[in-house]
Amino acid sequence: MAGRLDGKVAVITGGSNGIGRACAERFSAEGADVLIADLLPEPGHAAVEAIRSAGGQAEFVELDVASQQANEAMAAAAVEHFGTIDAVVTAAGVSDGDYRSGDIEAQLKRIAQAGEAMAANPAAALTELDLDNWRRVLDVNLTGTLLSLQATASVMLDQQKPGSIVTIASIAAVDPLWGSPSYPVSKAGVWMLTKNAARTLAPLGIRVNAIGPGFIETNMTAALAEVDEYYERVIDNTPMGRRGTPTEIANVALFLVSDESSFVTGELIHPDGGWFTG
Ligand SMILES: NC(=O)c1ccc[n+]([C@@H]2O[C@H](COP(=O)([O-])OP(=O)(O)OC[C@H]3O[C@@H](n4cnc5c(N)ncnc54)[C@H](O)[C@@H]3O)[C@@H](O)[C@H]2O)c1
Repeated sequence: MAGRLDGKVAVITGGSNGIGRACAERFSAEGADVLIADLLPEPGHAAVEAIRSAGGQAEFVELDVASQQANEAMAAAAVEHFGTIDAVVTAAGVSDGDYRSGDIEAQLKRIAQAGEAMAANPAAALTELDLDNWRRVLDVNLTGTLLSLQATASVMLDQQKPGSIVTIASIAAVDPLWGSPSYPVSKAGVWMLTKNAARTLAPLGIRVNAIGPGFIETNMTAALAEVDEYYERVIDNTPMGRRGTPTEIANVALFLVSDESSFVTGELIHPDGGWFTG
């Protein structure tokens, strides 16, 4: 049976875990060759092996998405391995400046510290925000998205080929959520970057759309899910009463990189279990 991405090449930043990995596996199952780019090589190689075991083609390249040079090397690696780039998902991201995917204990510690700071000063998340931490979140989530977009779109433009780029924003692109402003501000930036890039690239045959997930079962929400106070707040605000799965986000990304969305660009789609119905 023909796959929806047969003959296509996809680059996935943040592809070692969670939403990025689900996109890599989903796209591969639909026939795409996949380059996984991530800060963490170990789960990245595991993702590549899983795809190869299922009969797909995948490669891994190490990437700090905040580095321009590393993004350019990633785009060059895609061309070297697979000849081109047709589809991109920019899923590399952090929830705070010290975030390391999979280190749940460290996340739980930070949640506890933030709780203590807020008990002493209800405005601590804003007034005591560490500037280096703010900068790292913006460097990875916003500047990183820009750099990945630049490097991959440049390949499409050089090769005079159409393409589709999907950025991963969040419900936090339009809802300030609670606590530190860094993450929502970075995601609001991703959303505006997406719209701006969509307008610039539309006449050149490249579509750019954003996905704004609600709370999804990945390393990023694993610690939060263990703290009743926060988890209940998330579930109370999600009419479907659960977190989404990474595959539920990958299915939206698949639609956006496939020809089925050929007239869709500059959009933000929220797979969020009904978050914005209130
Ligand atoms: N999980 C959610 O509820 C949720 C909701 C909305 C948006 N998002 C966004 O989805 C994206 C994927 O997150 P996830 O939930 O799958 O979390 P995750 O931790 O499972 O995956 C994030 C991946 O990004 C990688 N990464 C982090 N910093 C990087 C860097 N500097 N360079 C390259 N790679 C880097 C991590 O190593 C990891 O593999 C993020 O942008 C996140 O903000 C997640």
